[in-house]
Amino acid sequence: MDRRIRSAFVIQPYVAVVLLVLTCLPPLAAAGPVEDASETGRLLAILLDTGRAAIANSQDLINDASKGNKGFTSDVFERQVAQEFEQRTGITITNLEAAEVPAMAKPLLARLMQESKKTIDTYQAVINVPGFAYKGLIPATFGTETATRFQSWSGIYLKQTAPSHLVRNPRNKPDEYESAAFARFAAAPSSDTPDKVFAEVTDEGKFVRVLLPLFYHRACLACHGEPKGQRDISGYPREGAKEGELGGAVSLKLSPPGQ
Ligand code: HEC
Repeated sequence: MDRRIRSAFVIQPYVAVVLLVLTCLPPLAAAGPVEDASETGRLLAILLDTGRAAIANSQDLINDASKGNKGFTSDVFERQVAQEFEQRTGITITNLEAAEVPAMAKPLLARLMQESKKTIDTYQAVINVPGFAYKGLIPATFGTETATRFQSWSGIYLKQTAPSHLVRNPRNKPDEYESAAFARFAAAPSSDTPDKVFAEVTDEGKFVRVLLPLFYHRACLACHGEPKGQRDISGYPREGAKEGELGGAVSLKLSPPGQ
């Protein structure tokens, strides 16, 4: 037999098997535990950031000293978050059963949404009092309080952090891994690619670390922008940041399922 024909015979069954495997697998089953953990981390980071953004978008309302009842209830907040989360991920957070997400992500996303609403609930009494502007409910306090309760329930490390020179609250200080990651982001700033996360396997496969960079947009600059050094409404000195600059990250550390 001609050599060329023989090699075609050898390859054909192999190709057929590969094609069979590819066509039989449902899209998500192709992903392994590491991909599942990294996708779960990505979705959790975006959900926490969506809550932060909802606070930022309602900051003027929350801080309005002339108004009593603000109508910014946890149900109103949930509707805003659900809408933006769907825009950013294509996932309906209120119908997770039907969502095409890794199985491990479903209870975690549901819980993070629940904890996010709980944070808004705990601030109701304060935000509805007229006569003063600053109520302590800002994207960062929302993020810290929500992430802390989520972490103690799930055991999954979840925090908002920032490059060392920007950190206001020492609790948000980056760890070694996060600091190194910030240095890498600085080399390749990408505020034009929204929701690009950085995910990496660490500790010989024990963990997946996921970082969602946060960039300052206009709503953030009332506190983090110019004039540098002048105190913002929360009493911290402004950083002098500009729109589009890196402000920090939502950071997660998860174990792949089965680990
Ligand atoms: C009303 C003022 C205010 C606004 C608006 C605001 N921040 Fe902050 N930000 C703060 C304060 C105050 C802290 C520190 C909170 C604390 O003490 O835990 C903080 C903390 C942070 C942190 C955590 C790291 C650290 O410094 O402790 C990040 C990241 C951050 N802000 C980014 C942003 C981004 C991005 C936006 C816009 C979406 C934003 N902030 C909007 C006041 C603000």
